[in-house]
Amino acid sequence: MIQVKDQVYYLGLRDWELKEFHGHELSTHHASSYNSYLIKDEKTVLVDTVWDHQADAFLEILDREVNLEKIDFIVVNHAEPDHGGTLGRILERRPDLPIYCSTKGAEIIRRHFHKDWNFRTVKTGDTISIGQCELQFVDMTMIHWPDSMMTFVKGPNVLLSNDAFGQHYAAASIFEDEADPCTVWQEAEKYYGYILTPFAPLIRKKLAEVVAMKLPIEVIAPSHGVIWRKDPLRIVEKYAQWANDYHEGSAVVVYDTMYNATRKMAEAIARGIESKGVKCKVFNSAVADNSDVVTEMFKARGIVVGSCTVNNGCMRSIADMLEEIHGHKFKNKIGAAFGSYGWSGEAPKKIYKALEEAGLKMFSDPQSVKYQPETHEIEACVQFGQDFADAIKQS
Ligand code: FEO
Repeated sequence: MIQVKDQVYYLGLRDWELKEFHGHELSTHHASSYNSYLIKDEKTVLVDTVWDHQADAFLEILDREVNLEKIDFIVVNHAEPDHGGTLGRILERRPDLPIYCSTKGAEIIRRHFHKDWNFRTVKTGDTISIGQCELQFVDMTMIHWPDSMMTFVKGPNVLLSNDAFGQHYAAASIFEDEADPCTVWQEAEKYYGYILTPFAPLIRKKLAEVVAMKLPIEVIAPSHGVIWRKDPLRIVEKYAQWANDYHEGSAVVVYDTMYNATRKMAEAIARGIESKGVKCKVFNSAVADNSDVVTEMFKARGIVVGSCTVNNGCMRSIADMLEEIHGHKFKNKIGAAFGSYGWSGEAPKKIYKALEEAGLKMFSDPQSVKYQPETHEIEACVQFGQDFADAIKQS
């Protein structure tokens, strides 16, 4: 147990071996942590728990540091199993323990555990005095689950923000100012880009609401990764940028290929983009890390997608990628499609349509080449890339 500030303590666990999250959807190159917090005041309050595969270790810490019998109530900011997973084990021993959560939180916990525990539902503006500190609840509905909320601990002025402002990062220190800054920001950006991008309009609205509440925030303690105690509003300001149709003016070319024809096109398009001074990254989606590619797309202004045609459609890694692009609801991005084909040639047209339906502003018609590209066709791809870069710069 590590003191965060005054009566607020970190009681989390780092999951050093974690490689993937949300099933196999999201890679976690720097592992993660599940940050539970304890507030020791006249009342002893546990805020969030850990994933159930760490339940034994968590209960051992809880008993050693505070004794589960002495906890007065639990606050569940968010019921997803990485934070609510240990509730079952805790409530086995304390079945009447009050659980403070949102109305949706109670519904989700009931559906996960099939138990009707002692729920006390709260909403924005509700407060509880626990001695010197007061807990103030803030709804974060759909950021990123229907039940999400934050708890502000008035007194020490610590915002227990749950998923918001977190990172999948198991660091040697629990504090941001003692961790590797490159990794912190890289993982915070991936967390936002991959998990929270679809909710950007809600996040913009919620950030405005939270700012208007004028909470005197001195520390932001999320439920994953490191705690922001030095100038904590930096991450709030960054969220405001990320939620506002963010891009870095760059491009991403993503392709899949069977006999390297589409690869040659991808590389020629990228050369054309770079020759105009626009930064460009190229990924073969069949072998690239999917969530890293999506994060690069989040940062890019332009997304170019290519596939050769197989069975009248796209290769499956590109079909996956198009689903990701659609689901992430990117805004303010330019798209383009390309690909090699043998006889029917549907893939570039399907990609074009999918990108358009995903909300990208489409650039030009798809670029297609029959079988392997000749020199003049490679030159046409370079030109395609140059024109795409001009469209990025002019937008
Ligand atoms: Fe970290 Fe939405 O759970």
